[in-house]
Amino acid sequence: MAKVLIVDDEAPIRRTLKEILTFEKFKVDEAQDGLDCLAQVKKDKFDVILMDIKMPKMDGLEALERTQLLCPETPVIMISGHGDIETAVDAVKKGAFDYIQKPLDLNRLLITIRNALDRSSLVTETRKLQRKVTGSKTMEMIGDSEPMQLIKRTIDTVAPTEARVLITGQNGTGKELVARWIHAKSNRSDGPIIEVNCAAIPSELIESELFGHEKGAFTSAHKSRPGKFELANGGTIFLDEIGDMSLAAQAKVLRALQESKITRVGGDKEIKVDVRVLAATNKDLQKEIEAKRFREDLYHRLAVIIIKVPSLNERRDDIPALVDHFNAMVCEEYGIPPKKFNKDAVKTLQGYNWTGNIRELRNVVERLIILSGNEITKKDVETFVGPFQRPENGEDS
Ligand SMILES: Nc1ncnc2c1ncn2[C@@H]1O[C@H](COP(=O)(O)OP(=O)(O)OP(=O)(O)O)[C@@H](O)[C@H]1O
Ligand SMILES: [Mg+2]
Repeated sequence: MAKVLIVDDEAPIRRTLKEILTFEKFKVDEAQDGLDCLAQVKKDKFDVILMDIKMPKMDGLEALERTQLLCPETPVIMISGHGDIETAVDAVKKGAFDYIQKPLDLNRLLITIRNALDRSSLVTETRKLQRKVTGSKTMEMIGDSEPMQLIKRTIDTVAPTEARVLITGQNGTGKELVARWIHAKSNRSDGPIIEVNCAAIPSELIESELFGHEKGAFTSAHKSRPGKFELANGGTIFLDEIGDMSLAAQAKVLRALQESKITRVGGDKEIKVDVRVLAATNKDLQKEIEAKRFREDLYHRLAVIIIKVPSLNERRDDIPALVDHFNAMVCEEYGIPPKKFNKDAVKTLQGYNWTGNIRELRNVVERLIILSGNEITKKDVETFVGPFQRPENGEDS
């Protein structure tokens, strides 16, 4: 059942609309002004919004702009009185689906709602498809600072070789992106890149995850299944968070690397695999080796080339370009034109302590886009980001 939100300050209009739409088998909620509308949109998902233009507290135009940020996929139909047809046209230019005039013509109302519903399912489908397409493309790597230039040069040199690469760096610095670029620029780019998050897989399961299993190998093995090494054949396997892998699993990975052969759990056949191995970790593996939590022989196998991805604090010069990039990206996701980050706002961001690195910066840009007006100022940054910053030289390095 499609869900409609009626936003109008006049109770009798809301009541009439609700009766009609309920009769037509819509589920209907009401809001009495723009602010109320936003509160409901934050809580619930609607398929269509009917929005009056003249309302106290927050009018229809402003409420339209804000709902578009919160739920860009929901079509908004404006309801205009005699006096505000021009505003209604304006609203359509700003992204409203259409407008209808008071007094409301029943047929026109229903047709407009149905059209809006059709379009909104189309938009959702297209977005999903777009995400699939862009999802399979390797994302651009932004940054021209010295350290980034060095990283890019290293990727270019190392990618076409078969060398194993260990990528280190703090959380959110872009280690995975580096791995994806190495694969994309390698001679194996037509083959798969298979990622294994070693920290997320319980140690009893990791062996079967990596090497697969034969039917009956353990109680829940109803079918035989190839592991990630087999799936990566002809391509690249990316062992993410390798520092979190159990010692038992490390021993097996070591063997696979030494012999380029694997055996499925519960199987006796050796399977040859042609796989390039990339690994990443945010841990200091030297320390892990000293603490006997990581095998030194495996380390030397993996770390033929080491790429250390710098923290964002070490390359603050890249922040303006990254802000631009994420601004464009986030606004496209929301289906709105990019906002403007003014110079002082960017400077303020540049001075902050980015313990969460690029991932944190991306989230902050998204937060600012949602909470600020069209131009994002230093004051916005100080209000919405500053209080959540951790002081530098705190307990985190
Ligand atoms: N140079 C860059 N330009 C643009 N986007 C980037 C860049 N580096 C990282 N990103 C983006 O930042 C986010 C975090 O990057 P990524 O997942 O590669 O980091 P990570 O080091 O693997 O993090 P973690 O240690 O938490 O796994 C991703 O959305 C990624 O696309
Ligand atoms: Mg990662």
